[in-house]
Amino acid sequence: MTGTGPVGVGLIGAGNISDQYLTTLTALPDVRVLFVADLDEARAAAQAEKYGVPASGSPDQLLAVPEIEIVVNLTIPAVHADVSRAIIDAGKNVWSEKPLALDRDSGKALLEEAKRRGLRVACAPDTFLGTGLQTVRRLLDAGEIGTPLTALTLFESGGPERWHPSPAFFYARGGGPLFDMGPYYLTTLVQVFGPAKSVYALSSTSHQTRTVGSGPLAGQTISVEVPSFVGAMIEFESGASAQSIFSFQSHRPRVGVVEIAGSEGLIVAPDPNMFKGTVEIHSDGESRTVETEFEWVRGVGVLDLARAIRSGETERASGALAYHVLDIMSSIAESAEKGRPVPVASTVERPPALPEDWNPAEATL
Ligand SMILES: NC(=O)c1ccc[n+]([C@@H]2O[C@H](COP(=O)([O-])OP(=O)(O)OC[C@H]3O[C@@H](n4cnc5c(N)ncnc54)[C@H](O)[C@@H]3O)[C@@H](O)[C@H]2O)c1
Repeated sequence: MTGTGPVGVGLIGAGNISDQYLTTLTALPDVRVLFVADLDEARAAAQAEKYGVPASGSPDQLLAVPEIEIVVNLTIPAVHADVSRAIIDAGKNVWSEKPLALDRDSGKALLEEAKRRGLRVACAPDTFLGTGLQTVRRLLDAGEIGTPLTALTLFESGGPERWHPSPAFFYARGGGPLFDMGPYYLTTLVQVFGPAKSVYALSSTSHQTRTVGSGPLAGQTISVEVPSFVGAMIEFESGASAQSIFSFQSHRPRVGVVEIAGSEGLIVAPDPNMFKGTVEIHSDGESRTVETEFEWVRGVGVLDLARAIRSGETERASGALAYHVLDIMSSIAESAEKGRPVPVASTVERPPALPEDWNPAEATL
């Protein structure tokens, strides 16, 4: 256990997703948001003002604030590892948006350096801490569908350039449907089946360029550097298997599909990019649904990290989990490139389920 009282938090990256984090984190009594930073300091200042955060400025100014214990890294994937490394070098714990890093080596180096300094690196997604996927987890643990054996996951969209005002990173290394959306689906599959053992995948690219569809950059051309379709088969250490499609080239959007089949039934999970939704249970020719609610959005993983720092326990959205997911994604990309199965070298333990009465709004520190 280290420190006492609410945990000081700073954010680096005041772009599109910072609204969700700031909405959650400024409402929770166990954390105090003290600083918003961005290369674009005017953007950081505007977000700080909007959410009543007392200070804003450059990343270096943020890293010099002694009361900040966790820095939330909401920059673009290409700089995630470098920004997280600077946070560790400043003696602070990291919450990173996904992916943890662009490749296994930089992800591993980050975790090793944090460990050496007695600091933590935790990573998105935290959607699996929502009531939707936690309900699925509890049903599975209670044996509702017997032994989980297979899964089907689908993320098929036309691509985020239609709605995101600066979408180039979605088509650069560290993006594409696999690295951008894969963390939600693969983190869920690891929750269900435990660690992955090997993968086999195929990929394709429908267009070499895309056009920005909204905002001040609308009409600009982006080059596509990564496959815009990936189809993967994943084998887990338990012997279970999953088939997953990740696509930014679909003309018939079908996203958020997660079906888990077991020896005695099948569960349809809510969208793993969401914190709540409908859970379907099918068994013995009968079906029922459970509606789940959750009042929070992105940021609850930062809260879990903050409480874990104080209690000495391991945070659920841990760096080890994020590294295993990065390893699975890297193995999938490699398999599609080489046309052969690729083993997944790392392993991880499933994070423990949250207690049913877990309440982010409670003041516990
Ligand atoms: N937009 C979404 O819906 C969404 C959802 C979930 C996760 N994410 C993830 O969140 C991250 C950020 O996404 P976004 O949509 O907010 O992107 P964005 O492009 O809107 O914002 C990124 C911000 O980071 C800043 N930045 C870039 N490099 C920096 C650096 N070295 N130091 C400091 N600031 C830097 C940019 O100036 C920009 O303000 C990505 O990893 C993305 O995958 C986004």
